[in-house]
Amino acid sequence: MADASFSKPPQSVAIVTGGESGIGRAAALKIAIGGTPVVITYFADRGAADAVLAEIEHAGGHGIAVQTDVGDEQAVEALFAHAEAEFGIVDRLVNSAGLNMSGVMLRDMELAQFDRLMRADLYGPFLTCRRMVRALEDAGRGGRIVNISSIHEKAPRSGGVDYDAAKGGLAQLTATLALELAPKQIAVNGVAPGMILTPMNQSALDHPEELKRKEAAIPWGRAGTPEEVAELIAFLLSPAADYITGTTVTIDGALSLTVAQGA
Ligand SMILES: NC(=O)c1ccc[n+]([C@@H]2O[C@H](COP(=O)([O-])OP(=O)(O)OC[C@H]3O[C@@H](n4cnc5c(N)ncnc54)[C@H](O)[C@@H]3O)[C@@H](O)[C@H]2O)c1
Repeated sequence: MADASFSKPPQSVAIVTGGESGIGRAAALKIAIGGTPVVITYFADRGAADAVLAEIEHAGGHGIAVQTDVGDEQAVEALFAHAEAEFGIVDRLVNSAGLNMSGVMLRDMELAQFDRLMRADLYGPFLTCRRMVRALEDAGRGGRIVNISSIHEKAPRSGGVDYDAAKGGLAQLTATLALELAPKQIAVNGVAPGMILTPMNQSALDHPEELKRKEAAIPWGRAGTPEEVAELIAFLLSPAADYITGTTVTIDGALSLTVAQGA
C-alpha cells in the first residue's frame, strides 16, 4: 500500500487580478504555460478575458475568468470561492489590477476619485491577500504573493496623490505581510515597474513622439514590456525564489535612479 507521506504535494493554483490586460495578462500566460491552473479576473472587458483564456488553452494550459471588482469584499470572496470550486485552494496570487494616477491636483481631487483609486490599488490587494491567507492557514499550507506596485511607491509626481499614496501603502502592506506570514511559509514580495508598454501607457503607444520623448528619459533607452515583468513575477513564484520574502524588485531600466541629477 502506498505510504501517504510520499503522496504528491497539492497542485498549485494561481489567481492573477487584472489578468485581462497588460502585465496581468502576460503573467497569467507565463504561469499557465508553466503548468499552473490560473484564474484571471477582469473588470469590464469579457472579450479581452476570453482572448487571454484562448491563448492559455492554445498553449496547453488551464484557466478561467471571473468578473471581479477587487475593491469589493463580496466580489473577492466570490472570486476565491469560484477558484476553489474549479481548481482547489489558491496558493499563488498576483495582484496586478490597478488604475493609473488621475493627474488631478489635490485641491481639485474629489474624495470619490481618491477612494476609487485606493479601492483598486490598495484595498484590492488587502482583500485578496486576506482571503488567500485565511484559506492557506486553515489548510496548513504555504504560498506566494506578488503585489505589482510601481516606482511611484517612492517617487512622487504632482497630480499623483491618489496613485502614489496607494502604491506607497502597497509597499508597506507587502513588507508587513511578509513579516507576519513568514512563519506560515507564505512569501510576499513586490514588483515595482517603471514605464511598461501596456494600455496604461496607451497615449505613448498611440503617439510615437510622446513615446520617444518618454523613452529618452529612461537610461536603458527604452520602455519595458509586460513579458519582461512577467518573467520576474514567474521567478518570484518559482521554487528557485524560496526564501525571498519582503522585498520589492524594481524593473525600470534605471529610470528611478535619475532623480536629483544635474543639481
Ligand atoms: N504599465 C506601466 O507602466 C506600469 C508601471 C508601474 C506599475 N504598473 C502597475 O502594474 C499593474 C498592471 O498595470 P498594467 O500596466 O498592466 O495596466 P492595464 O491597464 O493594462 O491593466 C490593469 C487592469 O486592472 C483592471 N482594474 C482596474 N481597476 C480594477 C478593479 N477595481 N477591480 C478589478 N480590476 C481592475 C483594469 O480593468 C485593467 O484591465 C497596475 O497595478 C499598475 O499600477 C504599471
